[in-house]
Amino acid sequence: MSKVIVVASGKGGTGKTTVTTSLALALSRKQNKVLVVDCDSGMRGTDMMLGITDRLVHDVSDIIAGTCDFDDALYECPGAKGLYTIAAPISAEDEVSPQVMKQFIEEHKNDFDYVLVDAPAGLGTGFEAAAVAADRALIVVNTEPISVRGGINIREKLTEMGIEDQRLVINRFDKERFISTKLYEDLDEIIDTVGVRLIALILEDVRIPALAQRGALATNWSSSGVVFDSLVERINGNDVALSVKL
Ligand SMILES: Nc1ncnc2c1ncn2[C@@H]1O[C@H](COP(=O)(O)OP(=O)(O)OP(=O)(O)O)[C@@H](O)[C@H]1O
Ligand SMILES: [Mg+2]
Repeated sequence: MSKVIVVASGKGGTGKTTVTTSLALALSRKQNKVLVVDCDSGMRGTDMMLGITDRLVHDVSDIIAGTCDFDDALYECPGAKGLYTIAAPISAEDEVSPQVMKQFIEEHKNDFDYVLVDAPAGLGTGFEAAAVAADRALIVVNTEPISVRGGINIREKLTEMGIEDQRLVINRFDKERFISTKLYEDLDEIIDTVGVRLIALILEDVRIPALAQRGALATNWSSSGVVFDSLVERINGNDVALSVKL
């Protein structure tokens, strides 16, 4: 079973943090113990989306530096029993190296059913640190060529790192916009271009940005997040249909 899952994209803003936190919430609703590790140093966001920002004192760099214990930087999310997160450093200068992150995740992963790692955009050392201990990767793209190209770059880099188990998430899909822009013939063209099998198709949903800002994904949007419940099934190897009808 894939336990450590990195959520990555070449292009920024595709929805990595939204996917990471919503998937984590869906997994925890199924009684899994889940750890979300934010690797986006300087631009962290999982704390906000999981509603723990007000309580946040310690981040992963404090554990690594030995200025706090693991449990001091582990925050359980309100309204989501068994869902924990560790924040990325507030400053990019405190970014944890890939070698140290690998050791850190390997040391703690067996205390959880799943570890989801939110990567920063691009292919830098932050991405490497996020991916280095992963058994599986979710590559998030939108339906624009620049985002799709970013997906190809991530696929190549992950393959180079030996992470073969990769799945594609197409996020912010808007059928009318997709058809009217005529950038792609159909979704298969995007899937074939990235070269990774599709695991989820998530629609553009105007409620998401507002809920995410308030740390309310747990209690509102995501509780009816059929898409993420079906993503959980697919991650577990169950052959359920994509929940979106095109
Ligand atoms: N399916 C969706 N429908 C509508 N808005 C969405 C959707 N998914 C994400 N968003 C919004 O898009 C913006 C970017 O999302 P998010 O922060 O998850 O992306 P990211 O890939 O983590 O960005 P970054 O590269 O900066 O880390 C946010 O405002 C988020 O609320
Ligand atoms: Mg993000």
